[in-house]
Amino acid sequence: MARKIIIDTDPGQDDAVAILLALASPELELLGITCVAGNVPLPLTSKNARIVCELANRPDMRVFAGCDAPLARPLVTAEHVHGKTGLDGMDLPDPIMALQEQHAVDFLIETLRTEPEGAITLVPIGPLTNIATAIQRAPDIIPRIREIVLMGGGYFEGGNITPTAEFNIYVDPEAAKIVFGAGVPMVVMPLDVTHKALTSRARVEAFRNAGRVGPAVASWTDFFERFDKEKYGSEGAPLHDPCTIAYLLKPDLFTGRHINVEIETESDLTLGMTVADWWRVTRRAPNATFMGGINDAGFFDLLTERLSRL
Ligand code: BDR
Ligand code: CA
Repeated sequence: MARKIIIDTDPGQDDAVAILLALASPELELLGITCVAGNVPLPLTSKNARIVCELANRPDMRVFAGCDAPLARPLVTAEHVHGKTGLDGMDLPDPIMALQEQHAVDFLIETLRTEPEGAITLVPIGPLTNIATAIQRAPDIIPRIREIVLMGGGYFEGGNITPTAEFNIYVDPEAAKIVFGAGVPMVVMPLDVTHKALTSRARVEAFRNAGRVGPAVASWTDFFERFDKEKYGSEGAPLHDPCTIAYLLKPDLFTGRHINVEIETESDLTLGMTVADWWRVTRRAPNATFMGGINDAGFFDLLTERLSRL
């Protein structure tokens, strides 16, 4: 039986690839896509998610708009990486499919309450505002969540929006603190992993030839590569968010440690840092499997093969 997931997202080109990978994979049943403000404001993330569904010929997918600002701070966005639409690259048509009327947080709560306990995996690949709001408003859903598999944080790699913070956690650190403290089994794909999942010319050309959606995917990676190559001085750019879906499909592609991870919410200097007790030097209880390694060739092979099915 397919594993039931909900993707919580702020598309974003790499979010878009994660959504396509999920839609291309029969092992996963995507119950809905919940959108949050992050890379760009909510009206754009909830539009981009629908553009991606229509690109995949899935106008039947339910897309929900959620929180338009972090719990306790003004929104920080990342147009400098993703472009002014959030999905710059190939021009794609505006979506015809409608947004669902229900708020994303209500959908999360209702679905977790109605589906059997332990059936649903949440896959957050943007700031954690929607997930934290659902947990705060309806704590009864906590034991009903099978697992949270998220992209966020960084430890040995440091940060990408400040020297110590990764974007998703930095945008809403209070939300991240709630989620990491909820007691739900968690798998975290930090920058330590995603900075090893780098595109290259050959990998982007393989995307371009990967069936109907391939040219759009290649245009997205071409777009954000421009920024990342200059920033990191690397041949390619990290493809962050699809690591979560790849983990659900092939967990053996990744290695990590079950450790304690706490979120910094007070220091101006290190706000949003994921303080990962990798060497287990505290007695704080483990709360997450924090990944550190990836078989990047296997990851790109999986991605290209799946995208070509769409
Ligand atoms: C994360 O931030 C966003 O810009 C990407 O979509 C990804 O989720 C990487 O730090
Ligand atoms: Ca994202």
